[in-house]
Amino acid sequence: MRNRKPFIAGNWKMYKTCAESVETAKKLAALVSGVTDVDVMIAPPFTALAQVYEAVKGSSVLLGAQNIFWKKEGAYTGEISPGMLVSAGCRYVIIGHSERRQYFGETDNTVNKKIRAALNNGIMPVVCIGETEKEREAGNTFNILDKQIKMGLEGFSPDDAEHMILAYEPVWAIGTGKTATSAQAQEVHLFLRNLIENLFGKDIAGSIRILYGGSVKPDNIGELMAMPDIDGALVGGASLDAQKFAGIINFKK
Ligand code: 13P
Repeated sequence: MRNRKPFIAGNWKMYKTCAESVETAKKLAALVSGVTDVDVMIAPPFTALAQVYEAVKGSSVLLGAQNIFWKKEGAYTGEISPGMLVSAGCRYVIIGHSERRQYFGETDNTVNKKIRAALNNGIMPVVCIGETEKEREAGNTFNILDKQIKMGLEGFSPDDAEHMILAYEPVWAIGTGKTATSAQAQEVHLFLRNLIENLFGKDIAGSIRILYGGSVKPDNIGELMAMPDIDGALVGGASLDAQKFAGIINFKK
């Protein structure tokens, strides 16, 4: 039996004003107030973080950011430092999302620096990896994931890895309505867990949470969560609506 506490996170991407973010966050906090067996996290846009923090304070909803920069401070126009995230109430951060890799030039190397910066500041990174459709069709899925993990996590210790969450998001399943089948996702999650075991040992492999992301909805979360190596979800579109997202969080009911 899996003893890892499920972690279900909402990545709001570039959606919602401050007022809309607060409204959705409050609704969600009320809807999941009785949930103790799942960790629930939302990642609103930067502009809404501080207000959402106030709105969910004392509830079971955890707060995360969608990105981070690794420098403490300086002349880096447009970037947000780890200390700024902490001051806005964030304890989690999504790192290396495929949209950041695709549109903003993130690489395994920048992912590595961002993870280090998050850990140094007590922020838990949710590290995203995943192959594109082309890479899957060419039979390169496992090579790509191997490289993303080995380069992204290069230089980290088991103690560091203990404070990380992984998110497998096949790029072809993001926002497309094309979910990976639970068997496809499980196959990859098991591969990732074995890779983590090789890098950080059995204990960390047994305790690290590996989320699945890509068109997760209330009606497919149940079969994904039934897989032994899927420990939660990173949800985009369906997390924008509090009711729908709560339906995913309550996948057992
Ligand atoms: P969708 O749930 O909209 O497919 O997005 C997934 C995602 O990218 C979460 O980070």
